[in-house]
Formats: sequence, C-alpha cells, structure tokens
Amino acid sequence: MTIPRHPRVLSGVQPTGDLHLGNYLGALVKFTRLQHEMETFIFVADLHAITQWQDPKKLKSQVREIAAAYLASGLDPKIATIFPQSAVPEHAELAWVFNCVARLGWLDRMTQFKDKAGKHKERESVGLYTYPVLQAADILIYKATHVPVGEDQKQHLELTRDIAQKFNHDFEVPDFFPLPEAVVEGPGARIMSLRDGSSKMSKSDPSDYSRINLTDDADTILQKVRKARTDPEPLPDTLEELKARPEAQNLVGIYAALDGRTSAEVLAEFAGVGFGTFKPRLADLAVAKLSPIGEAMRRYMSDPAEIDRILAAGAARAREVAAPTLAEVKSIVGYWAG
Ligand code: TRP
Repeated sequence: MTIPRHPRVLSGVQPTGDLHLGNYLGALVKFTRLQHEMETFIFVADLHAITQWQDPKKLKSQVREIAAAYLASGLDPKIATIFPQSAVPEHAELAWVFNCVARLGWLDRMTQFKDKAGKHKERESVGLYTYPVLQAADILIYKATHVPVGEDQKQHLELTRDIAQKFNHDFEVPDFFPLPEAVVEGPGARIMSLRDGSSKMSKSDPSDYSRINLTDDADTILQKVRKARTDPEPLPDTLEELKARPEAQNLVGIYAALDGRTSAEVLAEFAGVGFGTFKPRLADLAVAKLSPIGEAMRRYMSDPAEIDRILAAGAARAREVAAPTLAEVKSIVGYWAG
C-alpha cells in the first residue's frame, strides 16, 4: 500500500539569458497559480547554469533577475519558498548519491543532452551530462510530488521517477521517495518561436525576433509581433484547420494563453479575420499583459538588497525541509556521517 503523500510543488528556472513569453506562460504563471493550491518551492537553478560557461561577473545578477521575474509574476514569498539552488547545499549532496543510483544507459538516452551537446559531446562538461541527476535531487530532496515544467522536461521527470524507484528498491526503503509527476498541461504549454512554428520559443535562439522577452518595451513587442511569421490565409473556424498551420496556431495559442481563454474561444471571435487585423490585436494584448510585469521586474531589480533578503529567507526555509531528508538518506546509505 502506498502512503498518501503530502502534495508539494517544486520547480525552477535557469539564470541563463533573458526570460521570455514562453517562460512566463509555461512556467511563471503556472507557479503563481499552484502556490495557492499546494505547498510550493520555486528556486533559481544556478548550479545547473554552470554546466555551460557563465560569466561569474553576471551570474549573481542573473539569479536576482529570475527572482525579480518570479515576484513580478505574482509569486508571493509569504506563501511560496523562493530561493537560489546554490544556497541549499543539500541539492548537490543528494545529487552525488543519485549519481551512484542512476545508470549510464539511462543518461545516454537523454535528448536534452544530445541537443545541447550537438556534434561534440566530448567537449561538454561532465556536469551537463549528469544535469538530469541533479534535477532529480532538486525535486526529491523536498519529496515533491508535482513539478510544473515544459514538455521538453518530461523525460527528465521520467528519469527522476526511475531514480526514486531504484533508490527505494535498492536500499529497501519502499515509499521513501515519491514518484513525482510533471505538470505540463495548461494554455502556455507550447509557445513556439515567432519565426518558426515548429521550434520552441527559446532563450538560446540566435534571433531575438523569435521571442518576446519579459523586459521588451511596447515598441519592441509591437515590432516582433508584426514581423512574426504567418501565412496569407485568414483565421479558420476550427482548431482542426489550424493544425497544418503551425505559425498561425502559435499566435492563436499565445493570444488565448495571454487572455486566459482557449484557442477555440479565440477562433470563435476571430474566424475569417486576416493577420493584418489579428496581429495588432495580439500585440496590444501582449503589451497590456507584459508591460506591468516588465515594470515590476525593473522595480524589484532596483532594490537588489530586498531581493537578497527574500532569497536568503527562502533558502533558510528550504533547508529546514532539505536537511532532514538528506540526513535520512545518509543514514539509509550507511555513511559514516549518517
Ligand atoms: N531543467 C529545467 C529547465 O531547463 C530547470 C530545472 C532544473 C528544473 N532543476 C529543476 C525544473 C527541477 C523543475 C524541477 O527548464
């Protein structure tokens, strides 16, 4: 019999590059909603960040910027625990144990590593290879049950469950770690590039016109939406007809997610309308929704000491949960220090 679990949310974002609309709708909005439903831990993944080179002079301010985005999107430090990963050393300590639980064959299958490493995997850091093991530790150190992430992270969640299961089995501690679920659904689950409807909106796309950044001003947002790739057809009546038109589908999806509606509802309003009309409406909506977030981010960023206070308090609270889990793990494994 499995014990009912205390439901707990955990997720994080890497402090590498600017946050964009895809992060906002796919992650931040979801975190903000979930904090009212379950105990919520949201961190800034600065340990993960250095799996690829980061300028040490910039890293700390990038961590603050993600924290500012969390706060600007409505994460409330009185409700949710917000912290930098590097301030909770238990993540890295548990990751070591998990490195000894996970199998090479499991990691060899990870598509994100293959995508990031490209042709020259021998030149990547070992950290990039074991990245998903650290991610499993991030989640399981809090015995989290729900992990809001994008579609691309589903495989890492499967690996997390495999690690949890093997740990529970090998050390004969049934049910010690939960088997956490990815929470991927939601209107912002698939926000694609504005230049190519078949690839995800991404921080690492070389073209800034592929994405709307949270800190873009109204003019820039307008330009980017105007230049977004589309086709010459007007919007159709049904979702079915949108399927073969990825760029059109993406813009309708973005409109829907920003407006808290479904794509079907958006089509019901705009069927028969061309992009010459739809794009300015979308741009206005994007500016209306995003500029207050950008402004709030700038306000938070103007007071880094306040952000640091919030992050330090969050880290202390996170450690209260992480430390007992790690102590148990050490004893289960049979460590001298356990
Ligand atoms: N890999 C995640 C991403 O790229 C970031 C991340 C690191 C994460 N650790 C995590 C997400 C733990 C959820 C839970 O989006």
